[in-house]
Amino acid sequence: MSEPGIVVLGGGQAGFQTAASLRDLGFAGAITLLGDEPGLPYQRPPLSKAYLAGKTDAGGLALRPAAFLAEHRIAYRPGLRATGIDRAGRRLLTAEGPLPYAHLVLAAGARNRPLPVPGAALAGVHRLRDLADADALKEAVAGARRAVVVGAGFIGLEFAAVAAARGLAVSVVEAAPRPMARAVSPETGAFFREAHAAAGIAFLFEAGVAEILAADGRARGVLLTDGREIAADLVLVGIGVLPNQELAAEAGLAVADGIRVDAMLATEDPHIAAIGDCARFPTRFAHGLPGDGTVRIESVQNAIDQARCLAGRLAGRPAAYDAVPWFWSDQGPYKLQIAGLGAPGDRSVLRGTAEAFSVFRFRGDRLAAVESVNRAADHMIARRLIAAGTPLTAEQAADPDFDLKGLAGARR
Ligand code: NAI
Repeated sequence: MSEPGIVVLGGGQAGFQTAASLRDLGFAGAITLLGDEPGLPYQRPPLSKAYLAGKTDAGGLALRPAAFLAEHRIAYRPGLRATGIDRAGRRLLTAEGPLPYAHLVLAAGARNRPLPVPGAALAGVHRLRDLADADALKEAVAGARRAVVVGAGFIGLEFAAVAAARGLAVSVVEAAPRPMARAVSPETGAFFREAHAAAGIAFLFEAGVAEILAADGRARGVLLTDGREIAADLVLVGIGVLPNQELAAEAGLAVADGIRVDAMLATEDPHIAAIGDCARFPTRFAHGLPGDGTVRIESVQNAIDQARCLAGRLAGRPAAYDAVPWFWSDQGPYKLQIAGLGAPGDRSVLRGTAEAFSVFRFRGDRLAAVESVNRAADHMIARRLIAAGTPLTAEQAADPDFDLKGLAGARR
């Protein structure tokens, strides 16, 4: 039998990128990639955007064709679930027997947080995390007239924009007083609230769902905790995710809303790393945030950059993970790009016009995050400024004549 190599648990963006980068960096040992979904590893971002809108098909989602996996000697095992980690024996336990590893990479991702109310499992109640969810949702949208979206986060708003554009009457029910409260400033939240409202989307903030109402075994509407009822033939629940950390916890690894890793993305077991949506890691970009200086980030950038960083270590080029976090969201005609990690209480400074602007978010005198709407150039500059920790004052950020690009360039 061949030497145990690297086993990657998770066939999403982080897991796939780990395998691909290991080969790019010349790793010659065995690589096994386990995914719990059927089919080839695919991109998730289009699921709530172009794929849902029918602008790309499933073939266009694949990260690489099947031949890539064979050519790069990546043993891909779709549909295979891991059931346990035998740390002493260095084996990943699966339904089809144990897989020995020299190094185990946990790239297990996250799953949707369930809505704990009666009726949440009715036909007509959807969620959106994977391709199967997207296919079911797409079919449902085609036959629906009225949609209720629970959660005004990224999933809820991206879906709402697509559904409204398809002619559905859309209502969004959100627990917080504003949209995307976890991720963006009040100013950016207000912009998107108004933009979506102008497109006909109704919002109910500080609202809770008590029950999904049924007729003939299908969702017919939503009952709110204040007694209001909203009729719907389609309900989409997008109320956040939970990290897939249970196997790690059962194996005795530290977890706390994510599998704990160090700056090298290693767990306390030197033979096990964790990356992507399921990992909690220390970062200088969490400076001034509540907590212990660690974060768990749900984004494609984080999945890809952590995978590359870890592949480097496993291929003999160790480096601490230090990438600046960035995100994007397409909502109707608007593109939102975020660099850095914002938090409630940050001071907002606006730059630009009502339709194309950036919100510079300062924590103390430090630039913590920049949210750009239809200002891609600001976003690229912000990534550089935040990565380099370049000093910038609020007055400079607000001054349209101040040369931000020059500042970012000068410090490179
Ligand atoms: P989210 O965390 O972005 O938003 C969840 C929203 O639901 C929050 O506004 C929260 O206040 C609200 N909420 C929570 N419980 C609620 C309840 N009981 N009733 C009403 N509202 C409630 O999570 P979301 O939108 O589900 O997205 C899931 C994942 O997918 C996240 O990891 C997200 O970052 C990722 N994603 C990222 C995108 C992007 O970066 N463009 C696009 C789509 C998804």
